[in-house]
Amino acid sequence: MPAQPNKNIALKSFVKQVPWLHQSLRFFYWQGRSLRDRFLGTTAQERYWRNRHRHKNDDWNDTSRFWHNRDWAKSYWSSISHPHRQFLLKHINRLAPFNNLLEIGANCGPNLYILAKKFPQSAFRGIDINPAAVEFGQKHFEKLGIHNVNLEVGRADQLDKFSDKSFDIIITDAVLIYIAPDKIKRVIQDMIRVSRKALVFLEQHQEFLRKDNRGLGAYQFGLWQRNYRRLLGQFLPQEKIKLTKLPPKLWPDKNWSQAGYVIKAFL
Ligand SMILES: C[S@@+](CC[C@H](N)C(=O)[O-])C[C@H]1O[C@@H](n2cnc3c(N)ncnc32)[C@H](O)[C@@H]1O
Repeated sequence: MPAQPNKNIALKSFVKQVPWLHQSLRFFYWQGRSLRDRFLGTTAQERYWRNRHRHKNDDWNDTSRFWHNRDWAKSYWSSISHPHRQFLLKHINRLAPFNNLLEIGANCGPNLYILAKKFPQSAFRGIDINPAAVEFGQKHFEKLGIHNVNLEVGRADQLDKFSDKSFDIIITDAVLIYIAPDKIKRVIQDMIRVSRKALVFLEQHQEFLRKDNRGLGAYQFGLWQRNYRRLLGQFLPQEKIKLTKLPPKLWPDKNWSQAGYVIKAFL
């Protein structure tokens, strides 16, 4: 472990022992982040995720871990057995058979690994904004001899390279929470254009959110929650939109246990 993170852990632990200082720093940290994310929109998160492998863990609540370079992508590979992935898979299973599937924000491909093993006859493609995650995933798929997964660097709002109806299914898992109101409509419209059968998202939905104009999103501590019925309803009839709440114990994180949903749109 490099020396700098250890020093930071010690500093954070010290700050936590002084409640007023901890509370004040937390307050200013979130005020600053909220201002940045509202002002810059999706650009702020894009910059953050593009360089995520270079950052130390910057969560004031978490003094336990510091990512370092490739360890960050490795942590996603190690999360292949996280229960939320099986829940997502269950919903994708119901759409089988399918020829191909695109995951947006796939990181190094933990979901695509599970899917490729389950559906060896189908083709899987993943795009992610972070080049280190893509490189890590490509190497692993190669090493494991899995040839039906293709990962590449790409942004959620740059789907122009995909022709109309070129994928049966498009999925996202914890990615649209980082797309701000400035870009979400374009991203959804493009996914509808590129997909033939269905969109399947595992994201954060809230039925009644203040300031969630037309389902574009309301900012909640570093991420965007929204009413997906309202958002998707601008493009599709309501009967084509199905939402299933994640069982609260599946993902004990506060946001995911309260607002985690599988959102399906049938095209
Ligand atoms: C919380 S992680 C989830 C990763 C993966 N979907 C999974 O289930 O393990 C969010 C991912 O979205 C990617 N991402 C964030 N914003 C993106 C954007 N605008 N376009 C493409 N990928 C993005 C990040 O690089 C990161 O890999």
